[in-house]
Amino acid sequence: MNTPPWHSWLGPRRARRLSERFGTPLYVYSAPVLRNRCRALLRAFPGVGLRYAMKANSNPSLLRMVRSMGLGVDTVSPWEVQLALECGFRKADLIYSGNNPSDDDLRAVHRAGVLINLDSLSSLHRYGRMFRGSRVSLRVNLEVGGGHHPHVITSGPDSKFGLAPEDLPEAKSIAARHGMRIVGLHQHIGSGIFDPQLFLDALDPLLAFSEALPDLEVLDAGGGFGVPYRPEESPLDLAGLGSRVTTRFRAMQKGRKKPLQFLLEPGRYVVAEAGALLTQVTTLKRTRDRVFIGVDSGMHHLIRPALYQSYHPVSMVPERDGAALRSFIVGPICESGDVLAEERMIPMPEEGDLAIVGNAGAYGFAMASHYNLRARPAEVLIDNGKVTVIRARENYRDVIRRRDLRAKR
Ligand SMILES: Cc1ncc(COP(=O)(O)O)c(C=O)c1O
Repeated sequence: MNTPPWHSWLGPRRARRLSERFGTPLYVYSAPVLRNRCRALLRAFPGVGLRYAMKANSNPSLLRMVRSMGLGVDTVSPWEVQLALECGFRKADLIYSGNNPSDDDLRAVHRAGVLINLDSLSSLHRYGRMFRGSRVSLRVNLEVGGGHHPHVITSGPDSKFGLAPEDLPEAKSIAARHGMRIVGLHQHIGSGIFDPQLFLDALDPLLAFSEALPDLEVLDAGGGFGVPYRPEESPLDLAGLGSRVTTRFRAMQKGRKKPLQFLLEPGRYVVAEAGALLTQVTTLKRTRDRVFIGVDSGMHHLIRPALYQSYHPVSMVPERDGAALRSFIVGPICESGDVLAEERMIPMPEEGDLAIVGNAGAYGFAMASHYNLRARPAEVLIDNGKVTVIRARENYRDVIRRRDLRAKR
């Protein structure tokens, strides 16, 4: 492999030192890379309210950093709302885009005073019944969708998200019945998108649709900006996309009496490249057909390869000499799908070597679990040469959370 992009902040010597100091598996984040991605977004979309989709990574230290860069947050559960507020975001800088909300969810978001995107007639009706006279935003599905895998396409005929255009008259009548004002319009078409044209193809019907909502104050075009994972992928032309999107926003603003706030909700773009998963080789195994490099992390810490067949770049520490073998990097979980990387050409490592799984900052720790009763990784942040633990390693008690069992031991 050529020099990996994380080499500047997580080279082999530092990776080795971190593994000795904090153990593995370990999520490592770079503050400068995260800030740099925020700056790129702010530059590309001047005048647009950026709402970081905190589902991508909700570590409080990273959230605070995102806030200090001037971004708000997109939230999808009451606890995300709570955490964002505890990390210092103002409620005006939050938006809520959860799906299939319970009445308790609706109550919690309303109590917090956060504008909610509702995407079914049911939730609109229930919200109106509970909170007569409130302000709401509608999430629509205007049939343009895209993404790196079918599971992350969130618009189009098969998607569970969004109100269909033909539901608008009914939505307006429910809102009127409950004295609600539809002040927002939202869509999010999917995740990991590289084609700027797809964003524009989705934006045009959204802008057209907004004409039917005279009280509109907020227009939210969602997130989905792709980042390159595979060596052959090129970065999204963010600046080019930004100039075309902001031109459309400005043109739309011109024709309106009321000022309109434009929002975008990037998640992956902010954090993916700022994070890596450091894991240690525990077990080498060769079968007739395959070379397995067994490591101490797996699908319970980074589920993207198992869930979406996603590719994550990997570098080994040290880089050994010798013939590169077609290898599978696999974890300790009792599933054959527990693969972090497949068919990578890697010279045979030794047990005790390290693997750095790159671009793991988004939807990595956030989707980690205790499956097979294993702890989630610790997390550290590198900033200005200083390394800080931003989430301690879990122990048995953290995972089990049963005092009665402890008492009997
Ligand atoms: C409503 C909404 N907004 C924004 C995002 C962030 O998407 P991405 O991380 O691809 O930018 C998501 C991701 O699922 C989402 O559901």
